Amino acid sequence: PLVKELFGLSDLEEAVRAKFGLRKVVIVPGDSDESDDVKRELGRAGSRVLGQSLSPGDVVAVMGGTTMARMAAHFKVSAPLADNWFVPARGGLGESVDYQANTIASELAKRTGARYRMLHVPDHLSEEAYQTIMLEPNVREVVDMIRSARIVVHGIGEAVTMARRRKLDPETIAELLKDGALAEAFGYYFDRDGRVVHRMATAGLRLEDIEAAETVIGLAGGRSKGEAIAAVMRFGHDDVLVTDEAAAEEALRHS
Ligand code: F6P
Repeated sequence: PLVKELFGLSDLEEAVRAKFGLRKVVIVPGDSDESDDVKRELGRAGSRVLGQSLSPGDVVAVMGGTTMARMAAHFKVSAPLADNWFVPARGGLGESVDYQANTIASELAKRTGARYRMLHVPDHLSEEAYQTIMLEPNVREVVDMIRSARIVVHGIGEAVTMARRRKLDPETIAELLKDGALAEAFGYYFDRDGRVVHRMATAGLRLEDIEAAETVIGLAGGRSKGEAIAAVMRFGHDDVLVTDEAAAEEALRHS
């Protein structure tokens, strides 16, 4: 309440931007935990930001999740994006097909006339299986494209929520908690200081690719995600954050 009294929404955007050293912050009013309308507006805001960030020839890597699915459902362009590619940032992370990264990449491409590639590789691979699968020319080609993405758009979740959604085994979940995992994004788990506490060999985007991407857009809202958002912003490789008022207030409280 104090934050609300002192700030209008654009002041809140500026406060979050300055706090986490971001290029741009867009905040929609309300709390997407409480209202589906707010989540829809968050998706719309995300699609506008992505539209503004796109240049001809860009490869865009997208993550999955229900918020990203909302973004894709609202993405509109005035002229077809014949020269753009949408690719999934990671392979299968054991999520429902409705909001897998592959589904979102193809939806975005279909809505805009852009092209897309899919990555049909599970994300939890042994080192040996990973090395073998990367020798497949088809896989290699998509993976190289993913790793060259100029724009990355991703959701953010709470660590335990995401670990359960992906049906990680209880030992791995216990280990994550012991390591202080609080947030999840891009398939990586982060502690409150934004340190990566859990990683695995992935056929998708690696941390160095996220660092190399020109524009990394985080899209997440709801008060329950505030602390997780703050943790991922501390990781420090996002350029743009699209969120809602409740999450922004909570992220500031944890900063
Ligand atoms: O699994 C993909 C992903 O983007 C995660 O990286 C993130 O934590 C999660 O989805 C967010 O999902 P939702 O928008 O459904 O909360």
